[in-house]
Amino acid sequence: MASASLLKSSPVFDKSEFVKGQPLLRQPAVAAVPCRPVSSSALTVRASSYADELVKTAKTIASPGRGILAMDESNATCGKRLDSIGLENTEANRQAYRTLLVTAPGLGQYISGAILFEETLYQSTTDGKKIVDVLVDQGIVPGIKVDKGLVPLAGSNNESWCQGLDGLDSRSAAYYQQGARFAKWRTVVSIPNGPSSLAVKEAAWGLARYAAISQDNGLVPIVEPEILLDGDHGIERTFEVAQKVWAEVFFYLAENNVMFEGILLKPSMVTPGAESKDKATPEEVADYTLKLLKRRIPPAVPGIMFLSGGQSEVEATLNLNAMNQAPNPWHVSFSYARALQNTCLKTWGGRPENVKAAQEVLLIRAKANSLAQLGKYSAEGESEEAKKGMFVKGYSY
Ligand code: 13P
Repeated sequence: MASASLLKSSPVFDKSEFVKGQPLLRQPAVAAVPCRPVSSSALTVRASSYADELVKTAKTIASPGRGILAMDESNATCGKRLDSIGLENTEANRQAYRTLLVTAPGLGQYISGAILFEETLYQSTTDGKKIVDVLVDQGIVPGIKVDKGLVPLAGSNNESWCQGLDGLDSRSAAYYQQGARFAKWRTVVSIPNGPSSLAVKEAAWGLARYAAISQDNGLVPIVEPEILLDGDHGIERTFEVAQKVWAEVFFYLAENNVMFEGILLKPSMVTPGAESKDKATPEEVADYTLKLLKRRIPPAVPGIMFLSGGQSEVEATLNLNAMNQAPNPWHVSFSYARALQNTCLKTWGGRPENVKAAQEVLLIRAKANSLAQLGKYSAEGESEEAKKGMFVKGYSY
């Protein structure tokens, strides 16, 4: 059963939007799109019966001046964050922190979607309200991390592949019932370790299978092949690898009949490696990144929601702002975890008396990125803390 409170109206959703998607209440699928003919007997592939809803969800998330709050750290990664402020990695502490984030007053003005870890999707706030309901009340679409993390890729040069396809269909259906309307699958590509064509193909294929399964279950897939910042290479090398990766990703998305109007992308920005002697200005990052996107991403895709990848909060915002100085064919926005949460987490420090101040800091970052999405951000008056880089070698989620 869907959560009854999901059916209440909000700035983004109304009752009909949620009711429409419920499997028991849906009309049978009528649309069919042709697939490549393989013989004289025509082979057709049914469009997802959620097609209209997927397009609507993707457009809601990719709405002007808004982006995604990524708060889907696995329990292990969340533990590292909590440890950095001297807190134990308990469910109660994770719940307290996530409650702080989702209850920040007015967050929905800048944030259109929040990616949750499975524990949080089924969790309540410290006051006993379902987290999903709090988000919907804020006008924020709940999303869910569905991948099961990275493991070593046999036959490669210490590269990795992303697990999680087994059982994904039934898990996705359950997540939809719980209120999720979009999904995230993060796989990574390492430049210093290759990337080998095997690793790139595996990453692209996994993303495409996941995207097809998500759409089949009413979840808009965020397609995230993160090209890690690790390495001392220059920006040209990142650009070259990114072109290869995105070509492969779109080849397999098409092979898997994924509807491009109902996906969102989460790329890394094109920058020099974190250990490179070269540094790039926001204008250079924007030039390379937009050139990559224009070469590889069809305009049917509604939104490009960048990850921050270890950039400082201010750097991630400045780079996004530089990309929005002229109109783009897609909504170019953010889906940051570290670059939205870092100073907020430090300001909180695990103390109840700091919750309000930490929420204010979160809103400052969310507003800054909202302005950057509109191309109107200035870094004037930003704190020193917000300028500190957060790169960690081999970072995982
Ligand atoms: P960062 O913005 O911290 O790189 O997070 C990326 C991510 O995939 C979170 O969902």
